[in-house]
Amino acid sequence: MEKYRIRGGNPLVGTVDISGAKNAVLPILAAVVLTEEVCCIENIPNIVDVRTALDILEALGAEIRSIDAHTVEIDPSRLHTHVVPHDLSRHMRASYYFLGSLLGRFGIARSSMPGGCNFGVRPIDLHLKGFRALGATVPDTLDNGMIEVSAEKLTGNSVYLDQVSVGATVNIMLAAVRARGLTVIENAAKEPHIVDLANFLSSMGADIRGAGTDVIKIRGVDYFRGTSYSIIPDQIEAGTYMAAAVATGGDVLVRGVIPKHLESITAKLEELGATVEELEDDDAIRVSCTGPLRHCNVKTMPHPGFPTDMQPQIAVLLSLASGTSFLTENIWDNRFKYVAELQRMGADIQVNGHTAIFQGVSHLTAAPIKSHDLRAGAAMVIAALCAQGVSIVDDIQYIERGYENIVEKLQSLGADIERVYVPDQPFANAQ
Ligand code: EPZ
Repeated sequence: MEKYRIRGGNPLVGTVDISGAKNAVLPILAAVVLTEEVCCIENIPNIVDVRTALDILEALGAEIRSIDAHTVEIDPSRLHTHVVPHDLSRHMRASYYFLGSLLGRFGIARSSMPGGCNFGVRPIDLHLKGFRALGATVPDTLDNGMIEVSAEKLTGNSVYLDQVSVGATVNIMLAAVRARGLTVIENAAKEPHIVDLANFLSSMGADIRGAGTDVIKIRGVDYFRGTSYSIIPDQIEAGTYMAAAVATGGDVLVRGVIPKHLESITAKLEELGATVEELEDDDAIRVSCTGPLRHCNVKTMPHPGFPTDMQPQIAVLLSLASGTSFLTENIWDNRFKYVAELQRMGADIQVNGHTAIFQGVSHLTAAPIKSHDLRAGAAMVIAALCAQGVSIVDDIQYIERGYENIVEKLQSLGADIERVYVPDQPFANAQ
């Protein structure tokens, strides 16, 4: 029942430090089970999904030692089960990465059908196709809501992904690093977190070529050593603060980023009228905006295209940009649920299939709004930050799955935001 109370209108000004990438750390934490030696992982974001992944590791028998707020040491030498507990896996979609890594370590893995953000059908057929290609047995039906994959031995093979899939690429990599011989993943995902996983696995002794291109070649090895590794900065967290800076007419130094990962976001913010300056030496990007926003069109695409995980945040900017803008979602079926919230704040948006059409309005007005998922939640925060009046953002648990200290970071930039306890009013919507 905690919510965010946000009074809009303050331009964000100052410096924000970006945390480690959620979508890189989750596969890397799953990959730790491939070794029997201690791994030290640095720059871990302090977010709910990471805590769930660490709980899964502990439930499997790993010993976890916190070195500081962003560093953990994990000893996976005494794992005693290949079963990911249902109570943990159902909360986080990325728990299915343990299917690939436990299959690699033990030749058997069991987990429940993944939970996580809900924006339409989220099949895992490509993951299973990859496991089968490596010689694993994958039943056609679930057993009590659980999937079990097993193999006497994994053998390298070619796998063509019919659709670019981050999750399937990760899962196939996690199993293939332990398979005998060569695996070739064609039409692989190229996201920065795929490269980060490949770098982590290579630091453990894996033989991986081509990560970051659409053909990844993996030659299986038997032995994985312990390693120390620092997670890359979160591209989407950075993009979210960049969008917030623009929405509020602010001036923010977004620090601790890899500017190359942000190019597609930078390009769209500039098209909208923002000034974006890359400070390569400082690993930082400075984003400011003084004038009115200009309309532009955005299409989400796999990396290096514009990320779907920035789609709701840029929608807030398109709502305020003069003229007509088109926003096309090419990855997910149902990622426009948040539009109804923006409409209640005065945005003029029509959704037609996979495209949302925006007629820019001069301002948004505060309203009670809710997060439908993680990135939609981030968009609600941005909308509230630039709206006139006080908004209450509900269902913030989605936001806190992926954004470390979002309230504190925004406060340090001058935002009027606080976490408040607001009792639910069960009959508030009754007619
Ligand atoms: C990852 O999800 C991210 N999650 C998502 O970010 C992100 O939106 C997505 O990649 C796309 O970039 C994590 O990294 C933990 P996909 P994932 O497999 O791996 C279809 C966030 O906000 N598909 O690349 O689940 C699928 O339906 C989260 O941080 C199949 O058809 O996405 C979709 O249309 C939300 N069969 C497309 O591929 C499959 O077996 C891309 O999905 C797998 C996927």
